Parts: sequence; structure tokens; C-alpha cells
Amino acid sequence: MTDQNKDSNHEVDPNKPHKEKTAMDRLLAGLWRSPLGIFGVALTTISITLMMVGSIIEMLGLIENPYASLLTFTVLPAGMLIGLLIIPLAAYIRRWQWHKHGIDRENLTLNLSSKKHRMFLVGFIALSMVNLAILAFISYEGYHFTDSPYFCGTVCHSVMEPEYVAYQRSVHSRIACVECHIGPGAEWYVRAKFSGLRQVAAVLQDTYSRPIPAPVHELRPARDTCEQCHWPEKFVGKRVKKFVSFSNSDQVNPEVTEIALHIGGHNPETSAFEGIHWHVSDQVEVSYLALDDKRTQIAKVRVKRPDGTSDEFSNDLELPEGEEGHWRVMDCIDCHNRPTHIYHMPEERVDFGLLSKQINPDIPGIREDSLEVITTEYETREQAADSMINDLILLQKKRDPEQAEKYKNDIIKAGTYLLESYEGNVWPSMGIQWGTYKSHLGHQWADDGFGCWRCHDDEHSNSAGETISQDCSICHDEPE
Ligand code: HEC
Ligand code: HEC
Ligand code: HEC
Ligand code: HEC
Ligand code: HEC
Repeated sequence: MTDQNKDSNHEVDPNKPHKEKTAMDRLLAGLWRSPLGIFGVALTTISITLMMVGSIIEMLGLIENPYASLLTFTVLPAGMLIGLLIIPLAAYIRRWQWHKHGIDRENLTLNLSSKKHRMFLVGFIALSMVNLAILAFISYEGYHFTDSPYFCGTVCHSVMEPEYVAYQRSVHSRIACVECHIGPGAEWYVRAKFSGLRQVAAVLQDTYSRPIPAPVHELRPARDTCEQCHWPEKFVGKRVKKFVSFSNSDQVNPEVTEIALHIGGHNPETSAFEGIHWHVSDQVEVSYLALDDKRTQIAKVRVKRPDGTSDEFSNDLELPEGEEGHWRVMDCIDCHNRPTHIYHMPEERVDFGLLSKQINPDIPGIREDSLEVITTEYETREQAADSMINDLILLQKKRDPEQAEKYKNDIIKAGTYLLESYEGNVWPSMGIQWGTYKSHLGHQWADDGFGCWRCHDDEHSNSAGETISQDCSICHDEPE
């Protein structure tokens, strides 16, 4: 029947006897028969099977192992694709070998009136569709997996653990890492995946920096990320904040400071942009020139005000000879540099322990001793886990053995609380000690160059001698 083909492309050798196999028939029959082809088929089949098993396990939540998921979503699909590419390649090589032996020099022709050919075509289309569906499913799952906080936080476990732990206790703990670190749009998505690859390479070669440097200079501008959910026009007005602290001389009665922060925003009554969020009004632009990578030493500040005036303030800091410096337009991150990776300070943890009675304030000297053990520079977290509670008991025994005996259980409870606090904030192997990552929100660390007083120090002045004000009342006052 094939020989009687009317198809003009099909140039059948008239000398050939009836029922002679065409090149296509041979190809179909010989497709699997080279070792390479069989390898391709095997690779594809095994990859698909494992991929499906992996996805089912993943979806049922039977195993939570990021490496298993990584295998399912990257290595196996790659295996499947390579297998699929190998099959036609093997067939091609096969055919070329036949050519060398002079068999079937004709073109490959699909003859739709041949049942075999039809079956092949239908099978080919059906299998391709199944493969495409599997690939689409896996890419979709893989896309979600590699964008999940679970992936970001656990795959490079030792590297990301600190940021992941600090993130999990913040208000943003239900927001995916990618919302702030990548944001919407394809461009940053691609950039992020490439920089992700670079980071994986750095981890494998062990060349990454410890601690991971902050600020993150390649961070996507906050306009594109934070402002997906928060917008500066929203009027917050004043917000009362309470600060509670103890001292070594009084562990029982806390000192309470209350301030009303003028967060401001767009005031619907006056239509003016007020308060602290004035810096990020769309009619204002504050930019600054920092001398260091940490952006803690600010030499010059420029401001464009809503009334159209502009100004430049500077202090006596000078850029080193020959350096240009880098101007940066102020955005959310210049104040909210710790919106989610919030690390605590030792005093903060100890005072919270006293307030919540996890550290019994009746034990004499417990605040001082707690601060001492919690700030000890243990070499590893394991070492801290082994010694911290004992160290606290020893310090208390040194003070008064009888008292240490009397409060034994409370001291152990306090030690356990301190250890937990330590483990939530200190990672010696990543170069993270107490205070490695400080916040700009306020002026507690003004001496280290953090916070509002980088600019509001009454030392940056304009040509008229006016300064960026440090007047307490522009930022906060006593709550009514
Ligand atoms: C609410 C927004 C937000 C979310 C969600 C978020 N980050 Fe961040 N992250 C930031 C900002 C802002 C910085 C930059 C801090 C700076 O420049 O000082 C940062 C910095 C980092 C750094 C550099 C080290 C440091 O602490 O400054 C790492 C690493 C990091 N993030 C990883 C993650 C991972 C992993 C997740 C998810 C588990 C995540 N981030 C979720 C906003 C976010
Ligand atoms: C995907 C949405 C989303 C993104 C993106 C986001 N946030 Fe938030 N943020 C929230 C939600 C929701 C809350 C409120 C949580 C609550 O009240 O429990 C919040 C709360 C806050 C708060 C108040 C914290 C407090 O202690 O009350 C600040 C400040 C904040 N976000 C800053 C930022 C900054 C800065 C960024 C960008 C780096 C950012 N957010 C990105 C959703 C987001
Ligand atoms: C000049 C510094 C500064 C800048 C810039 C800034 N903020 Fe704030 N923001 C603050 C301070 C200070 C507070 C009060 C913090 C507190 O409660 O401890 C605050 C509070 C907030 C809150 C909580 C408001 C509430 O209801 O209590 C949100 C949300 C917020 N900022 C988001 C943003 C976003 C988004 C941006 C960028 C568009 C931004 N901020 C830019 C200083 C700033
Ligand atoms: C990069 C420098 C810089 C930093 C950091 C900075 N500010 Fe400012 N701030 C300015 C400048 C410049 C002005 C405007 C001065 C002028 O117009 O004369 C200003 C003005 C203000 C005003 C008055 C706004 C108004 O209504 O006119 C408040 C309030 C304020 N800042 C609060 C803060 C707080 C709170 C922080 C820290 C969380 C902070 N600033 C951090 C540069 C800075
Ligand atoms: C440029 C804005 C700004 C100025 C000026 C300013 N503060 Fe503050 N202050 C803040 C912010 C923002 C916080 C909140 C910090 C936080 O949320 O952790 C704060 C917190 C505080 C606190 C409570 C936290 C702590 O460290 O105990 C005290 C006390 C305080 N300020 C005192 C003052 C005094 C006194 C002055 C005047 C000399 C002053 N501040 C000037 C912005 C300012």
C-alpha cells in the first residue's frame, strides 16, 4: 500500500519490490534499538516516575526535606528533558549509520494511510502532551517551591538560619521572602534567580561573607516592594510607644518611658504631609551621600521640599581624595532597615525576662549575672548550650551559695530562658553576635552611627547655618 502512495514528496524507488519498508518504517522499528536511545528512554522514564513520586510526597507533606524537593523540582526535570532530547538524537545517529550502509537514502515520510504511521503520530502527539503537562505541572510547583520562605530559609541552612529565625518572629513572618527581596515583575525575578545562582556558588565554594553584609546594596527599591502593601500617604498620625527597662540596682520596679511618635503621613484635614513619614511623601525627596558602605557616616544631605525649595546640608566630614561617593535617595529601608530580620539586644531580652517573670526578679544580682552569661562570647552555639545554664549557677554560687541553693530551680529556669534568647540572636559561625545588625529606627545606637541622628544631629548645616533639627518634639512628645 505504501508504494502506491500518491504523495508527490514520496519518491519511491520503482525497482523496489512490494511491501518494502520505507525509511520511516525502519526508523519506527529501530528507534529504541541503540544503546543511546534506550538510555534516553530509561532516563526519561525514571526521571518522570521519581518526579511524580516526589511531587506526591511533597503535596501530602510526608517528608519535609528541602534537598528532596530541590531534586524533584530541578535535577529530575532536567533529567527528563535531557532524556527526551537524547531519543531523537539516538534515532538520528541510527539513521545516519544506516545511510553509511546504503540503506534507505530517501527522505523520511510520514504516510497517513499507513496504520503504523498513524499510530506513531497519535502516540507521539499524545506522549508529547503528557510530557508537556508534566513539565508544566513541575515548573509551576518548582516555581512556587523556589519562591517559598521555606526554600529560601532552609536550603542553605547554616547561611540563612539567622535571617529565617529572626523573620519568623516578626510581623512579616507570613509574608514570603520574595515579596521584599524580589517583588513583582519578570526583570527582578530573573535577576534574583541569577544572583541566587551566584550565591549558591559562593556557598559551595565557601566564599561568602560572614556576617552577610548589611545594608544589602542590591536590594530592590522599597517603592516596588514595601509599597505593594504599605503606602506613605496613609495617615497614621501619632502612635504611643512604651519602653520598659530595669537596672541592676532595681530589678523589681521597671522604668517606663512612654512617647507619642509623630509618624504622620498625609493628613486628610490639612492635606499636608506631616511627621516622620514626610521623608517619603511623593512631593519630597531626601537624598544623602554616605562615606561608608554601612551608610552610617553621612556627609551631605539634599532635600527637595513640597514648596519647590531645595537645600543641601553638610557637616565637616569630607570624602577621601579621589572618591566620588554614592548618592542615595532615602526610602523606607533607610529607617526600617530591620522590618523583619529583627535581632534583639541582650538588655532587651534580660529585661523582658524580668518583666515576664521568666527570670525571677527576687534573686539578688540576677540581672547583672544574666547579662554576663548571655553576652559571653561562646565559640559555638553548642558550647553555649552546654555551658550557659551552668555558668549562671556558678556566678550565683559565687555571690551566695545559700541563695543559689534556695533559688536553684528559678536559676535553671532563668538560664534556660537566656539560652533560648541567645539561640535566637547569636550565630558565631555566621559572624553574628549581639548587635551585629542594628536598627535605624530611633537613636538608641546613635553613637555607632545608626538611627535618625545620623542626619538629625544639629551638625549638618546649610549655607544659612540652619541645621537638620534634633529638637525632640519634631519626632515625639509626651502622650496626652
Ligand atoms: C518585609 C520584608 C522582608 C521579608 C519578608 C524578608 N526580608 Fe530579608 N531583608 C529585608 C530588608 C529590608 C533587608 C535589608 C536590610 C538592610 O539593608 O539593612 C533584608 C536583608 C536580608 C539579608 C541580609 C542580611 C541582613 O539581615 O541584613 C538576608 C540574607 C535576607 N534578608 C534573607 C531573607 C530570607 C531568607 C527571607 C525569608 C525567610 C527574607 N529575607 C524575608 C526585608 C525582608
Ligand atoms: C505582602 C505585603 C507586605 C509587604 C511587601 C511589606 N509589608 Fe510591612 N506589613 C504587612 C502587614 C500585613 C503588616 C501588619 C502586621 C500586623 O499588624 O500584624 C505589616 C506591618 C509593618 C510594619 C509595622 C510593624 C509593627 O511593629 O507594627 C512596618 C514598620 C512595616 N510593615 C514595614 C514594611 C517595610 C519597610 C516593608 C518593605 C521592606 C514592608 N513592610 C513590606 C505587609 C507587608
Ligand atoms: C524617616 C524614617 C522613616 C521612613 C523613611 C519611613 N518610615 Fe515608616 N516609620 C518610621 C517610624 C519611626 C515609625 C514608628 C516606629 C515604631 O512604631 O517603632 C514608622 C512606622 C511605620 C509603620 C507602622 C505604622 C503604624 O500603623 O503603626 C509602617 C507600616 C511604616 N512605617 C511603613 C513605612 C513605609 C512603607 C515606608 C516607605 C514608603 C516608610 N515607613 C518610611 C520611620 C520611617
Ligand atoms: C538621611 C538623612 C535623614 C535621616 C536618616 C532622617 N532624617 Fe528626618 N529629615 C531629614 C531632612 C533633610 C529633613 C528636612 C529638614 C528641612 O526641611 O529643613 C528632615 C525632617 C524631618 C522631620 C520634620 C518633617 C516636617 O514635617 O517638616 C521629622 C519629624 C523627621 N525628619 C524625623 C526623622 C526620624 C524619626 C528619623 C529616623 C527614624 C529621621 N528623620 C531620619 C533628613 C533625615
Ligand atoms: C529625628 C527624630 C527624633 C528626635 C529629634 C528625637 N527622637 Fe527620641 N526617638 C525617635 C524615635 C523614632 C524613637 C523610637 C525608637 C523605637 O521605636 O525603638 C525614639 C525613642 C526615644 C526614646 C525611647 C527609647 C529609648 O532609647 O529609651 C527616648 C527616651 C527618646 N527618644 C528621647 C529623646 C530625646 C530626649 C530627644 C531630644 C534630645 C529625642 N528623643 C529626639 C526619634 C527622635
